[in-house]
Formats: sequence, structure tokens, C-alpha cells
Amino acid sequence: MNTSGSTGNTLDTSEELHEFACDLALRAGELQLSRYESPGEIREKAPKDLVTEVDLLCEQLMISAIEERYPEDAILSEEHGGEISEKRRTWLLDPVDGTANFSRANPLFCACISVIEAGTVIHAAVAAPRLGDLYHARLGGGAFRDSGGTRSPLRVSGTERLEDAFVGADISFMGAMREDGRRGTDEVFAAAWQLRALGSAGVRGAWIAAGYLDASVGTRNTAWDYAPTVLLVSEAGGKATDLSGKPWTLDSDGLIATNGDPLHQEILEILARS
Ligand code: IPD
Ligand code: CA
Ligand code: CA
Repeated sequence: MNTSGSTGNTLDTSEELHEFACDLALRAGELQLSRYESPGEIREKAPKDLVTEVDLLCEQLMISAIEERYPEDAILSEEHGGEISEKRRTWLLDPVDGTANFSRANPLFCACISVIEAGTVIHAAVAAPRLGDLYHARLGGGAFRDSGGTRSPLRVSGTERLEDAFVGADISFMGAMREDGRRGTDEVFAAAWQLRALGSAGVRGAWIAAGYLDASVGTRNTAWDYAPTVLLVSEAGGKATDLSGKPWTLDSDGLIATNGDPLHQEILEILARS
């Protein structure tokens, strides 16, 4: 994934598109808040993978708003499906990220929107309504938190060593990771000072950008989960790669997001030798 902005001339990094994405994430967040503690029907769409009525309502809201305003654009959304278009701008939607949390009124959940053009994440918006925060980033335009009517720039932490780091992870998938034993994620977690499993990939990524966490290791390839982190963290001065240190792409099998080197390098070295 190119987040360098080198092809920026052809990419729509406009304020107008950005504001639309942010506003839409906020609207989905408001809907979530209006249904806090009443998620409606909860279904297990796959083992330990939940979808609530509110996931579907947020998704409908997002898709109809995008189709009305940008009818030419492609959409890939977690529940509804779709595709990432090679030729057209694509919206990646995670209508409720942290559904398991939301289903039991744990406040760590959010609505995630990423806009992709030519394989590059150009806009990201993560609205976490119970926290009162909107995290957002625009390629080449920085990363910010809007909270209580104030907009503040996001900046990653300065933690340099894993032994001093707060590391976030997809802990619910640790069982599977232990079985294959190749990725060395256990070793990374064991070497960290603090481990945080928040239950929301969107909040986790935003919190690296904000400096509350120093790194995270994710071992899935659900682009709607990771794309916001890639842009938020890059724009906040950090680094995001796949598990081998190559640039993250929409097809990558995992994501390492950190405050940058030397911490990023230390994690990559542990994964490479495991
Ligand atoms: C999940 C959450 C969770 C992460 C999983 C995701 P969902 O998203 O982000 O933190 O561990 O990998 O699938 O299903 O709540 O949108
Ligand atoms: Ca998700
Ligand atoms: Ca989701």
C-alpha cells in the first residue's frame, strides 16, 4: 500500500471528500449510540464472529449515503460484501467494529470508513461514539482527533524498546496463532511491557496514532479492519507494514503498526527469527 503520496496528483485527497467520510462515520456512531445496550438480534455468522441488528442498520446508512453522493464509487462492506475496484475509488466499511463489545455494552466499539484509490488509503475515519472521539486522517494532511468540539493533531509515542511498549493485538485469535507457531507473535507479546486486547481493531489503530499504545500486531487480512490504522498511524508519524516488513497492501495477511523505528524493526526481527 502506497501511503507516501507520491501519486498524490491523481488522488482525491480533497477536504470535501474527507468531511463527507468523517460525517458519515459520525452518523453511524450516533446510530450505534442510540442503540447502546439494545443491539437487537445477535447472530453468530461464524464461530465467535457476531453480527447485530445495529451492524446491518449502520451498514445500510453508510451504503445509501455513499451511493447517493458518489454513485460511481465501489463499496466493500463487511456484512454486505462487494469488491475493491482496480479502476474506481473504493469505500471500505466496517459498520460496527468491536461488535462483540457492542453486543454486551462494552464501550470500545466504533464505525470505520476508509477510502481507497489506486491501492492507496487516502482517507480514514473512525468514530468511537461512547468515547466521544472521531479519529481521522487524510493522505498528506495529517491525523486528528475531534473530541468535545476540539480538533487536536495525533502524534505517535516515543517509546523505543519493546520491553517498554504497550502492544495491542487480536488476542481472540491467539489460539490459532499458537498452533502454527510460526509468526512469533507470542514472543512479541511476551517481550512487551503491557499487552492490550481492546476488541476493536479500529480503536486499537487510532490509539497507536494517539500515542496511547506503541505497537500492534494483527494477523488477519480483513482490509476494512486495517486500512484505517495504516493511514492514521502513518499520518501520525508511525509506521505500518505487513508481517515481513513490506508495505501493507489490501491483500496482506497481517499488519504491524507501530510508532516507527527502532520499535518496528525490533518486532520484525522477532517475527523473522521465529
Ligand atoms: C473485530 C474486532 C476485533 C478483532 C477482530 C475483528 P468486528 O471486528 O476488530 O478486535 O480482534 O479481528 O474482526 O468483527 O467486531 O468488526
Ligand atoms: Ca472489524
Ligand atoms: Ca464489523
